[in-house]
Amino acid sequence: MVLRRALIAASQNERLRSLVARTPVTRGVVNRFVAGEGAHDAVRAAAGLADVGVYSTIDHLGEHTVDPAQAGQVTREYLRLLERLDGAGLAPWAEVSVKPTAVGLALGGEGESLAAENIARLCASASAAGTTVTVDMEDEVWVPATLRVVTVLRREYPWLGCVLQSYLRRTEGDVAAMAAPGARIRLCKGAYAPSAGTGYLGRHEVDRAFVRSLRHLFESGAYPMVATHDPRLIAIAGTLARSNGRGHADFEYQMVFGARPAEQRRLAGLGARVRVYVPYGREWYGYLTRRIAERPANLAFAARAVASR
Ligand code: FDA
Repeated sequence: MVLRRALIAASQNERLRSLVARTPVTRGVVNRFVAGEGAHDAVRAAAGLADVGVYSTIDHLGEHTVDPAQAGQVTREYLRLLERLDGAGLAPWAEVSVKPTAVGLALGGEGESLAAENIARLCASASAAGTTVTVDMEDEVWVPATLRVVTVLRREYPWLGCVLQSYLRRTEGDVAAMAAPGARIRLCKGAYAPSAGTGYLGRHEVDRAFVRSLRHLFESGAYPMVATHDPRLIAIAGTLARSNGRGHADFEYQMVFGARPAEQRRLAGLGARVRVYVPYGREWYGYLTRRIAERPANLAFAARAVASR
């Protein structure tokens, strides 16, 4: 837990970022977990996944945009990405995931309406391309505003996905509020660092809360998107699907690019819907330090790969 918190703090440290970026081990980790720097890399990765029957959700890396112009640039990058996905015939195999702070949420004052406007533009473009958008969930301070934005936009785009994090105590209430019929809800454990009062700090507590929310999702009319690499939780999701009479098209498993690829294919081979989170772009540092905070073995894996070259 101490290491995890230190790594999450490091994910926000700029000096450390440039130091880390220069080490060969980092290159190994980046290559494993990030599709590449350009949209064409992400589209290529999504096409490769579609070829083996796996769906994807593409994230342009970057968070905490500092001014409205930058939020506009990020939005345009996503619009170009959606055009490329359409041009490559990848809808509905590939959709996009967007961080609200990357499109303006953290700008204060008008930030929330700017983020809503920008995400609405992505929804319109995704809808025209025959695909969907999911709004990522970030640090706990952004949860209320993110859920407000999703709730408003769902009036026009009911397929807009949102994410709920089981490490937050409020999440079971949010599941109840957001699980409308057909609502696409990605349930994950949470990748940031909640405070003791608002979050569960122990692994087992987080896992138990995950199962409670999962059960609620499967029993509701919502469309559960089960985002975990945890073998126990994956097995529980399968059991809940069967006991609630849900077929393969009625929920999906989600994992990140580079994590448990054999398991992704195994589940897809059984007929399950599997979606992989495919990040691309130059701003990979915060994303990768969170992956290492979750599982320090991810760093050891890359170190071995570099040493054996
Ligand atoms: P956890 O990290 O607790 O690991 C449990 C067990 O799973 C391990 O003991 C191991 O057995 C197995 N395992 C985990 N990783 C593995 C690997 N790489 N290889 C092999 N085995 C592995 N978070 C957030 O806050 N907001 C968000 O919007 C999202 N979005 C998101 C999308 C998708 C598609 C995924 C998969 C995850 C997210 N997350 C996220 C991240 C999420 O909150 C969480 O931090 C990570 O998924 C890690 O938690 P796990 O549930 O995978 O298990």
